[in-house]
Amino acid sequence: MKYEVFFLILVLAHEASAALEIRCTTAYCTEYITETGCSDLTTGCQVLNSTNYGTFMLYPDVCNCCDYCLTNLYEGDECVSGAPGQLPPSEICGPELACTTKDDDQATCQTMTTDCALERVAYDEKRDNGTLGSSELRPECDNDGLYSAAHCIPGSICYCKAPTGERIFGEIPYLNPWNQREMSCGCSLNAWRAQNTLDPTYHIPVARCLSNGRFDPVQCMNGTNATCLCIDSVTGAPITDISTVNVTNLAEDTLSCFDSTIHTNGTYNTTCEEAYDTLVANGVTDIELLPSCQIDGKYERIQYSDSKKICADPNGVQIDSFEALTNATEATIMDCNCARTRWILSKASVTELPTCCDFGNFEAWQCRRNECFCVDENGNQIGHEVAINDLEELTCYITNGGDACLVS
Ligand SMILES: *[C@@H]1O[C@H](CO)[C@@H](O)[C@H](O)[C@H]1NC(C)=O
Ligand SMILES: *[C@@H]1O[C@H](CO)[C@@H](O)[C@H](O)[C@H]1NC(C)=O
Ligand SMILES: *[C@@H]1O[C@H](CO)[C@@H](O)[C@H](O)[C@H]1NC(C)=O
Ligand SMILES: *[C@@H]1O[C@H](CO)[C@@H](O)[C@H](O)[C@H]1NC(C)=O
Ligand SMILES: *[C@@H]1O[C@H](CO)[C@@H](O)[C@H](O)[C@H]1NC(C)=O
Ligand SMILES: *[C@@H]1O[C@H](CO)[C@@H](O)[C@H](O)[C@H]1NC(C)=O
Ligand SMILES: *[C@@H]1O[C@H](CO)[C@@H](O)[C@H](O)[C@H]1NC(C)=O
Ligand SMILES: *[C@@H]1O[C@H](CO)[C@@H](O)[C@H](O)[C@H]1NC(C)=O
Repeated sequence: MKYEVFFLILVLAHEASAALEIRCTTAYCTEYITETGCSDLTTGCQVLNSTNYGTFMLYPDVCNCCDYCLTNLYEGDECVSGAPGQLPPSEICGPELACTTKDDDQATCQTMTTDCALERVAYDEKRDNGTLGSSELRPECDNDGLYSAAHCIPGSICYCKAPTGERIFGEIPYLNPWNQREMSCGCSLNAWRAQNTLDPTYHIPVARCLSNGRFDPVQCMNGTNATCLCIDSVTGAPITDISTVNVTNLAEDTLSCFDSTIHTNGTYNTTCEEAYDTLVANGVTDIELLPSCQIDGKYERIQYSDSKKICADPNGVQIDSFEALTNATEATIMDCNCARTRWILSKASVTELPTCCDFGNFEAWQCRRNECFCVDENGNQIGHEVAINDLEELTCYITNGGDACLVS
């Protein structure tokens, strides 16, 4: 039954893209462009200055062979919502606008009111009234006004976001602008959807992810008789026959997507899962004695150890000495986000690291190069920075009474 759920999510969602995988070759596009041709770009798209602008997008044909660009409509302009089978439109409601129908009238472009769209409006206001911090980011929303999956903090990490804006599994060091593109977060989103659509109290096995939120290219069903297959890391679409390799034979020469830097010969179980299974097999049920594993099979950032909660790296090793007594108030607010960020950045040889509370959370303000600013629980800057000598002026300093790790 569990395996069926797994394949339902994995296979059904991606049946269509699996077929495309094979069709969309360079040769196909060359032929497509020669035979069908691509439509000319509108003037707005060719000019691209502040009065004439458009948005380049994937061509709404299956293989994206052509450049495709839409010019923007302004608030109040009439618009048509696209429908399957119609020609792709050449005009679209501009940023933060959605084609909205009111009382059966002709649809017009109206301001979106999703959380992401509203957060952008607030961002623009702060920029205009001078209260914006230098590393605060304008939220990235998709065409429906939902949060884009990749969220990158300058000088820190990129992490995955659910469409609702909450942080979900998947993080990498943010070292260059390409990192944002690498963060497709498909596997994290797949797991998030599975957990949010189905009964949340029921443990649903989902596709194995990589630490960056992509799909692990090797997927095996667990158990002694498991079989393994290769899938696309970005889309999760199966790319080999489903009944391929017996997990006991898993190796470089049996499965093309096997990567010895990630995978282990002959098993798909990770150290964390093995530790968990062994303890459960021995009748252990107390959660304080069991490791918790992430959806990439590695250790979660918070683990129990004796009468403490510790911040752990993905291998289950305590990071520095970040911890709190299980019975202490710190343990109830502990998130280890700062500890993990420090660990990720150190591994990437970054030397400017965030400062963390003893229990692994971000200190309420961070100081860099003689400037200080308030941050949220993920290390995002909130509000304008101040000179280090004016630290007392920061809102978070005032509300915390000068305690960067205020508990309760
Ligand atoms: C944008 O380009 C159009 C067409 O070339 C031109 O008429 C207009 O003045 C340009 N606007 C700006 C702000 O440069
Ligand atoms: C600036 O704009 C933000 C966002 O709307 C608002 O919360 C803040 O109070 C404004 N600050 C000033 C000084 O106007
Ligand atoms: C992997 O774990 C499963 C239980 O989840 C167990 O049945 C199986 O034997 C393990 N495989 C190996 C190779 O250890
Ligand atoms: C498969 O793995 C999940 C979590 O990794 C575990 O909860 C489940 O018990 C395993 N199933 C079997 C049959 O080992
Ligand atoms: C594993 O597969 C073999 C052969 O298909 C079968 O005889 C055996 O019962 C299976 N074992 C388990 C634990 O499912
Ligand atoms: C997988 O390999 C193991 C060990 O060689 C064997 O016992 C098991 O029957 C195989 N399972 C299947 C389904 O072939
Ligand atoms: C894994 O299996 C491959 C053969 O497929 C072999 O060349 C390699 O040495 C094995 N690695 C380990 C660590 O056993
Ligand atoms: C918490 O536990 C420690 C030892 O485990 C004990 O020394 C301490 O008194 C306890 N504190 C509270 C508030 O219960």
